[in-house]
Amino acid sequence: MRISIIGTGYVGLVTGVCLAKLGNEVTLVDVDKKKIEAINQKRPSIYEEGLVELLNVTDIETSLDFKKSFGSELIFICIGTPSGDDGSLLLDQLETAVKQISQVVRRKEEYCVVCVKSTVPPGTTRELVIPLLEKSGKEAGKHFGVCMSPEFLREGKAIYDLMNPARIIIGEYDKRSGDTLANLYKDFSAPIMRTNLGTAEMIKLASNTFLATKISFINEIGNICKQLNIDVYEVAKGMGFDDRIGSKFLNAGVGFGGSCLPKDLRGLIARSKQIGYEPKLLQEVLNRNDEQALKSVELLKKHFNLKNATVGILGLAFKPETDDIRESRAIIIVEALLHEGAKVKAYDPLAAENFRSLFPQIEYVTKEEVLNSDAVLILTEWEEFNRLDYSGKIVIDGRRVPKAKGARIYEGVCW
Ligand code: UDX
Repeated sequence: MRISIIGTGYVGLVTGVCLAKLGNEVTLVDVDKKKIEAINQKRPSIYEEGLVELLNVTDIETSLDFKKSFGSELIFICIGTPSGDDGSLLLDQLETAVKQISQVVRRKEEYCVVCVKSTVPPGTTRELVIPLLEKSGKEAGKHFGVCMSPEFLREGKAIYDLMNPARIIIGEYDKRSGDTLANLYKDFSAPIMRTNLGTAEMIKLASNTFLATKISFINEIGNICKQLNIDVYEVAKGMGFDDRIGSKFLNAGVGFGGSCLPKDLRGLIARSKQIGYEPKLLQEVLNRNDEQALKSVELLKKHFNLKNATVGILGLAFKPETDDIRESRAIIIVEALLHEGAKVKAYDPLAAENFRSLFPQIEYVTKEEVLNSDAVLILTEWEEFNRLDYSGKIVIDGRRVPKAKGARIYEGVCW
């Protein structure tokens, strides 16, 4: 199939290389010249396991010009939808891209399907995308098709997740649009669910907010367990045998970060408020997450006065195996430590440079040097942290690194 991908962030780039690997003719379009040049040089600006290897073995066309999508049977929209000040998902970049696609649709003789992959508030494809595309003078469902098919890619494992999806969700405006997309995925063994546009949009947000809820839930249980001298990890293990609950996403700690869970949670909260519904449970999931991160600072204060103390931080990325620091818990924790007057030295195997752009005032050192602080705070569970010698140290562990238990004083954030 001839496919264009508009937007070459994590989702667009990974989708593009994987679909090319599966034998499709793929064109990647982005207005960011630097991103396109980096892709052409097979040195993408994002780190993703297996991505460079795939870029080297696939034949992908790239362009800065939307008109390049003219020959495509399928156009995927993979434009970012960042959080606005009120938490709502901002749609202006998406809107600009759809207007450009509308120009392409206007000139196209043959039928093509435009598929939204960006995470958008329910109603966006029907109320914003379709009217903009119809400004071309063409009619949705007749001259062109429209789908909304969300992605569920974990950063770091995005290629694996795309090639081995748990499910494929196809929100379709009409049957022909959905058939085109279903045909693209016909060789995948995952269940394919076909539904309407708004439901597909909601499935994405509900999935991510559910994962976030699971984490805040186990963190809440952890906080109670800590006071009662019960190990929340043992509790989670016992709960997980029940397959209605499941054992995944029950790792208690300093909370969730990343480019999706916090943003999607805020996005759904904002959308609910717009329609006059107060989503109290979702709001508490978010509140617990912020308070959970700051609990690590409270625990440090229990052991000594933070003013002028040196706190060593192990892990800055929002999770292991990535250099991504978006919404990393380390950000609000370092802010709080600096506010208390502490000195901070930090180590992360991949994310230190990204963190330096936000916090140039802290020291970036080796992991061994981090251990040489008044106390150590573990914020990302990198495998290598489980090989350090913590003896004689004070450690506050936000991610349950087993080896850290050997510290002179060891305390888990909620265990
Ligand atoms: C997430 C979803 O998993 C993915 O399906 C979606 O499409 C994009 O958002 P990602 O942001 O890459 O993926 O990270 P994920 O592995 O889900 O972890 C998110 C955050 O939750 C991390 O900060 C992680 O440390 C934290 N987490 C995860 C926990 O604190 N406890 C857990 O049990 C699991």
